[in-house]
Amino acid sequence: MKRKGASDTRDWWKDGIVYQIYPRSFMDANGDGIGDLSGVISRLDYLNDGTPGSLGVDAIWFSPFYPSPMFDFGYDISDYKSIDPAYGTMADFDRLLVQAHKRGIKVILDFVPNHTSHLHPWFVESRNSRTNPKRDWYIWSAPSRPLKRRYTDGAEPPRRYRPNNWQSIFGGPAWTWDEKTQEYYYHHFLVEQPDVNWRNPELREAMYDQMRFWLDKGVDGFRLDVINFIFKDKLLRSNPYCIGRRPYDMQRHLYDKDLPENIEVVREMRRLVNSYGDRMLVGEIANDDPNEPARYYGNGTDGLNLSFYFHFANQPFCADSFGSAVAAWETAVPKAAWPVYFLSNHDRMRHIGRYHARNEARTLGRAQVAAMLLLTVRGTPFLYYGEEIGMANLSIKKKDLQDPVGIRYWPIPVGRDPERTPMQWDNSTSAGFSSAAGTWLPVNPDYKAVNVAAQADDPSSLFSFYRKIIWKRKESAALTRGTIEILRETPRGILAYLREYGDDRCLIVLSFSHEAVDFTPKDDGGPIGGRNRWRVLVSNRRDEADRLLSVTWNIKPLEATVFSYKK
Ligand code: NOJ
Repeated sequence: MKRKGASDTRDWWKDGIVYQIYPRSFMDANGDGIGDLSGVISRLDYLNDGTPGSLGVDAIWFSPFYPSPMFDFGYDISDYKSIDPAYGTMADFDRLLVQAHKRGIKVILDFVPNHTSHLHPWFVESRNSRTNPKRDWYIWSAPSRPLKRRYTDGAEPPRRYRPNNWQSIFGGPAWTWDEKTQEYYYHHFLVEQPDVNWRNPELREAMYDQMRFWLDKGVDGFRLDVINFIFKDKLLRSNPYCIGRRPYDMQRHLYDKDLPENIEVVREMRRLVNSYGDRMLVGEIANDDPNEPARYYGNGTDGLNLSFYFHFANQPFCADSFGSAVAAWETAVPKAAWPVYFLSNHDRMRHIGRYHARNEARTLGRAQVAAMLLLTVRGTPFLYYGEEIGMANLSIKKKDLQDPVGIRYWPIPVGRDPERTPMQWDNSTSAGFSSAAGTWLPVNPDYKAVNVAAQADDPSSLFSFYRKIIWKRKESAALTRGTIEILRETPRGILAYLREYGDDRCLIVLSFSHEAVDFTPKDDGGPIGGRNRWRVLVSNRRDEADRLLSVTWNIKPLEATVFSYKK
């Protein structure tokens, strides 16, 4: 891969590390078994108190905490400008913002532009009558052919009357019959999450108004939920069929997502946040083709600031796969834009489970390699709460399931509860997450060993490794803003890349192998090892006093090391 550019502007969302908090599961201050904003405030020092004893992250992204009937745990919003009582009050939020900012931690909110809750007053009005002024704020359609009678009392027209073949990603048809007005409304997700109509200028303005509310309060940006879904085909054409597992996957989604109009709205949103100064937008475009998320950067300065890259998180634990995924992303991202990486979030199995090995030591090694990769490639890293202590995916009993997707498809393990269990702080009741013994999702029973308190003073713990990398990264211009060049001709199982900024040069070597491997690092000018100039900056397998005297280095199994030198 050719060397890719450095960043010469010092934007916090480029240099920093973002930490995702799922508010229900981070910290419960009022003892009801559900996380809350006061709980988060009490743990801000853990996230960053300005010393290397804390994790050292620079921003928090909060999954939604707005009022919601919780059919999709907050991704079904019934009021964009308020706080759900389960999480606290607006006064708590204001306190949280002040306290986070005091510590230099930026605050990014989840913004859900594609749909609202069916209980949002906009939808309640919209479904009131066909002539309601808000009717067109949602996506309504008459049956595809004239009805011979009214369908009421739970009856609905036969399937062929549906406007088209679109499916809900969570299962079932995407059209739900509305008895009162004898039309269908559209929902890409749950029946309780009707999609809004971005073609309606009033709706558009209303959405921007919700964003302004939080920007005026001083939040630092938004994560845009399924931003690639917001426009649907004007003619509501049916999708062509293809081979797939579930009905949703048996269609090529030509007409219900990824429409070119989406990017226009992103541009408008960028202009809006730019008018507030130093704010940012990060967008969710879950697509394995790197060109899709890349498109949402616009020309690199007029679209999203950061666009999530799912293909990276979909890789197996393999040097070549990750190397190719990074190279593909580097090629796709516009020159003026900045990449972003994550491995875990609230919708996917935690990566420690995906990379699980035969024994604990290897699993830890793999988690260290993954952490080093995530925190040292060129781009902004997003961490998911608990990954820094190696929280695992918990298999949840049927009776404890919460996620509608998990409930619908049980026993197929596609639900998202396993990665949403309460944060494990210590070995007391409910892992120190709550004073209540019963929590909204069960605490993983491994909390006695896997918790923050147990790992904080243990230099060999995963938490210590995360902290070490994060704090070293802050001091290194090469790691935060430098160019990247992936080395060619690496032995099997080794991924190595150079990061460079001015005088500062880092060589990151990651071994995905369970064997030791000899490696002669080379760039285009030949071998770059030896000559006593490389130092170990941070490593899970080497001492900082280690000197690399020869051109060939013996890389240990599952080694993750940053070597550095100043030119
Ligand atoms: C993506 C979110 O990450 C997911 O949790 C949610 O269920 C859907 N969008 C619908 O909002």
